[in-house]
Amino acid sequence: MVSNGSSSLGGFANALIHSRQHVSPKRLIAPGPNPSQKLEILNAAGAAPDHGKITPWHFYEVSLDGRHLLGNLFADALIERDPTATSMQIEEAKEKAFRGPLLLLATAKLNGAQDNIPEQEKLISAGCAIQNILLMANALGFGSGLSSGKALYSKKMRTLFSLQEKEEPLCFITIGSISTHKANKQRPDASSYSSIF
Ligand SMILES: Cc1cc2nc3c(=O)[nH]c(=O)nc-3n(C[C@H](O)[C@H](O)[C@H](O)COP(=O)(O)O)c2cc1C
Repeated sequence: MVSNGSSSLGGFANALIHSRQHVSPKRLIAPGPNPSQKLEILNAAGAAPDHGKITPWHFYEVSLDGRHLLGNLFADALIERDPTATSMQIEEAKEKAFRGPLLLLATAKLNGAQDNIPEQEKLISAGCAIQNILLMANALGFGSGLSSGKALYSKKMRTLFSLQEKEEPLCFITIGSISTHKANKQRPDASSYSSIF
């Protein structure tokens, strides 16, 4: 193995990985990443394992105009699910699109027409790209949270983001400053999920 010349990398990686934990978008506030930090965060995704160098992921940054459209979609989806939803619940559904200073939609591009890479490998690549984003955000001092929900998988969402055929929405990623910190979570021990074959 080629030495990376840095004996402190293991300790840094350990601290970086284990200090990341989900932060609810409600607790993610301004300031968010500045333009160069945003680029650093997005570039981290590009270092994900990628069989065949096909970049089977995409990240859509949701602009302010985009948030208005997304908020309306969340509200419509709620009304469709629950026609008795109150105006307060509808407003809350809309407001979800405005949480956090940086909002990304992550998708996996599963189209197999141009390559022979199995879909599950592409999904794994996209998952790793997401984790790289979360870890880079953490390294830069920001909190992050993933969110999904029924509306994410709706036809309207596909239309709103003009998703291609076989491009699947995975989750929203919210990034920002943490308003209130919580104690670090207890994580499962390796012995609970690994064994010798
Ligand atoms: C693809 C994906 C979507 C998720 N969507 C939601 C969500 O909509 N709401 C939520 O509370 N947690 C959601 N989670 C879980 C949180 O992001 C988080 O992973 C979980 O609470 C565990 O926290 P941890 O990341 O600190 O281990 C989602 C996780 C993944 C991987």
